[in-house]
Amino acid sequence: MTQHFLSIQQAIQQGQGTVSIRGWVHRERGSNKLKFITLRDSTNIIQCVLDRKDFEPRWDEVDHVQVEACMTLTGELKKDERAPTGYELHVKDYTLIGKSENFPISKDQSIEFLADNRHLWLRSRKMTAMLKIRSTIFGAIDEYFKGQGFYEYHSPIFQAVQCEGGSELFEVKYFDKKDVFLSQSWQLYAEPAIFALEKIYTIAPSFRAEPSKTSRHLTEYWHAEMEMAWSTFADIQMHGEALLKHVLKRVLEKHRPDLEIMGRDVTKLEPALAKPFVRITYTDALKILKEKFNMNIEWGKDLRTIEEENLTTLYDVPVICTNYPKKVKAFYMKEDPHDPRTVQGCDFLAPEGHGEIIGGSQREEDLEKVKERLIAQGEDPTQYEFYLDTRRYGSVPHGGFGMGVERIVRWICGLESIKDAIAFPRTVERYKP
Ligand code: 4AD
Ligand code: MG
Repeated sequence: MTQHFLSIQQAIQQGQGTVSIRGWVHRERGSNKLKFITLRDSTNIIQCVLDRKDFEPRWDEVDHVQVEACMTLTGELKKDERAPTGYELHVKDYTLIGKSENFPISKDQSIEFLADNRHLWLRSRKMTAMLKIRSTIFGAIDEYFKGQGFYEYHSPIFQAVQCEGGSELFEVKYFDKKDVFLSQSWQLYAEPAIFALEKIYTIAPSFRAEPSKTSRHLTEYWHAEMEMAWSTFADIQMHGEALLKHVLKRVLEKHRPDLEIMGRDVTKLEPALAKPFVRITYTDALKILKEKFNMNIEWGKDLRTIEEENLTTLYDVPVICTNYPKKVKAFYMKEDPHDPRTVQGCDFLAPEGHGEIIGGSQREEDLEKVKERLIAQGEDPTQYEFYLDTRRYGSVPHGGFGMGVERIVRWICGLESIKDAIAFPRTVERYKP
C-alpha cells in the first residue's frame, strides 16, 4: 500500500492524530536523549521530536541527521505553544530519503556567497515566499488580460530591429549573420498582430544590455506587455492601473503569511488597491520637484532615478506620469496633438522609491512622423519596412504598455534589490550559476 502524506500545512490545520509528512530538515538540534527537527516543505514548517528510546538501534543515524536532509516522518500531532508554528510531531517512524552533509549555507553569509550558491539559497523561507508570490503574479496577469478579452500572442526573441534604443541591445551570434538581437520588447512584432487579433498580451523574457549596477535593472527580465487597436491614451493608462490593482488584490488575498515571512508591511500596499492612482504630467513633475525638493531640472531632460524616487515618496499609491518631452522617449510614441513638444507616453512610478514599473504609450499613427523620428534617433527606416507597413495598410489608433514583472515582485514584496525578485538573476556581473 502506498503511504498517504499530508502537506505540513494540512497537518497543522488537522492539528491532531497520527500523520505522515515529508520534506527537508530546516533546523536540527539534539541531546543524547532527544532530537528536534524542524521539517520544511513547500507549504510550511513544523517542529518534530524523536525520542531516543523509540529509536535505539538507529539512534546513530538519527543523531547524524543534518540540515537539508530529505525525510519522511510519521507521528502524533500535539499542540505546543512553544513550537514555531504551534504544533509538534511526536515521531514514531521515519525514513531518511536523501542525506545531506555540511549544507554550505548557514547564518550570516555574505551576499556574494549566497549569490554563488543561489541554487541552494532558493530553499530559504524568504526565497520560497517570493517564488510563491511571483507565481501568483504571473497567474493574475494572465487572468486579467484573458478576462478583458485579450489574446495571448508571442513575438520572436531573435529580432532584427531595436525597440528601446540601440545601446542596450544584446547582439547574438546567429550563424554567419550580423544584426541579430535578443528581444528588448515584443512591441514591434506585436503591433502588426493587432490587425488580426485587435487586443493582445504576452509575458516573455526581455533582454537589456544594461551596464549599470542598480537595484532595479536586470539584463534578463520577464516582461508583461499589451497592445490594443482602437485605444485612446486614457485606455492605456486605465488598463495599467486596473492590471496592477488586480495583481495586488490576488497577492493580498493569498499571500499575507508569505508577505509576513518577507517582513513586508502590507499597510504600505493597501492604498494602491483602495485608492485611484495619482496622475501628473512631466511638466507638473518638474514643478513638484522644484517646490518640494528644491531640484532644478531643465525642461526636456529625462527624469533620473533620484527624481523618480523623490516624487514617489510624496504619495502612497503609484503615480502615472505622462507627456514626457518627445526627444527623451521612443520613436513610436504619439505626439500629443495638444502639446506637440510632448508625447502621449506614460510611466507608472511605484511608491516608496521603487520607481518605474510600467512604460506605455499611444502609438504614432502617421507614417511620415514615425520615419522622421527614426531618422532623428539615428536609425535607418529601411530596416523597419515590416513595421512601417502597420502605418500603410489600414493604420488604426492603438497603444500599449510593458510591465517589468520583477519590478512588480520587488515592489509588492518590498525587496531591497530586484535580484531577489527572480530565481537566478542575470546582471552585468552575474550569469552563473
Ligand atoms: O519602458 P520600457 O523600456 O518600454 C518598452 O519596452 C515598451 N516597448 C513596452 C511597450 O509599450 N510594449 O520597458 C517597460 C518596462 C519598464 O517600465 C520596467 O518595468 C521594465 O520594463 N524594465 C526592466 N525591468 C528589469 N530590468 C530592466 N533592465 C528593465 N528595463 C525595463
Ligand atoms: Mg521606460
